[in-house]
Amino acid sequence: MIKTYDDLYTIVKSKPIPVHVAIIMDGNGRWAKKHKLPRIAGHRQGVEALRSIISTSSELGIKYLTLYAFSTENWKRPKDEVNALMSLLVEFLRKEVAELHRNNVRIHVLGDIEGLPEAARTEVRRAMDLTNGNCGLQVNIALNYGSRAEILNAVKSIVHDVQSKRISIDEITEQTISQYLDTRDIPDPDMLIRTSGEFRISNFLLYQIAYTELVFTDKNIYWPDFTRERYLEAIIEYQGRVRRYGGLDTGEDD
Ligand code: IPE
Ligand code: IPE
Ligand code: MG
Repeated sequence: MIKTYDDLYTIVKSKPIPVHVAIIMDGNGRWAKKHKLPRIAGHRQGVEALRSIISTSSELGIKYLTLYAFSTENWKRPKDEVNALMSLLVEFLRKEVAELHRNNVRIHVLGDIEGLPEAARTEVRRAMDLTNGNCGLQVNIALNYGSRAEILNAVKSIVHDVQSKRISIDEITEQTISQYLDTRDIPDPDMLIRTSGEFRISNFLLYQIAYTELVFTDKNIYWPDFTRERYLEAIIEYQGRVRRYGGLDTGEDD
């Protein structure tokens, strides 16, 4: 029997909820192709999926949701597609931020904001400023984000702080590195979901996902098809995993 949203919700709520969920929202282009539509129609449909995943995350009491929206490598795409993606971002923020703010959602951006077009930069700053004091779900939007660029910047800042004697080499720990990344003060993701059946990370949160549980959807589930039911199923899959962190399972035998 197919489980309804309410059935799945009850199952998810009966076990520990992940604190931090990261998502590689992939497959908008393939969704559009399947429906014989231009790629941008796929991105537009992707925004609908995004809205429902944000509200479900809030409802579940997830604390951090990190969404890969535009990578440092996505600039390689045709100019028209890049422009359309930036316009969609601006439109999304203009339309949705007030409602997100009412729902106590805090919006944060990872990546190089300075490298975004002016309109996108303005909306991103406005959204972050408005929602800065909120204590509900924190939505981290990775925009013009690449993990290697993030690590490179962290290395440069650490070297700078060593040279200016703000910290000493001996004081540098794994936590220090975390604190120099864009995700400073955000715990590492508990789970990472990638839609569309692509088994790669594509330069996302490389340092942060050392012990994250990876969940890949079937290849026919493109991002616009990622309904709240599919989301709950992914969380149920996560809840069934045993996390050992290199140690031994301390729970009951399977
Ligand atoms: C994800 O969908 C959205 C972005 C990368 C901005 P894609 O545009 O990568 O869709 P596919 O992978 O080509 O199907
Ligand atoms: C990763 O998807 C980036 C985003 C979802 C924003 P891509 O579609 O860019 O990744 P590749 O090119 O398939 O690795
Ligand atoms: Mg893709």
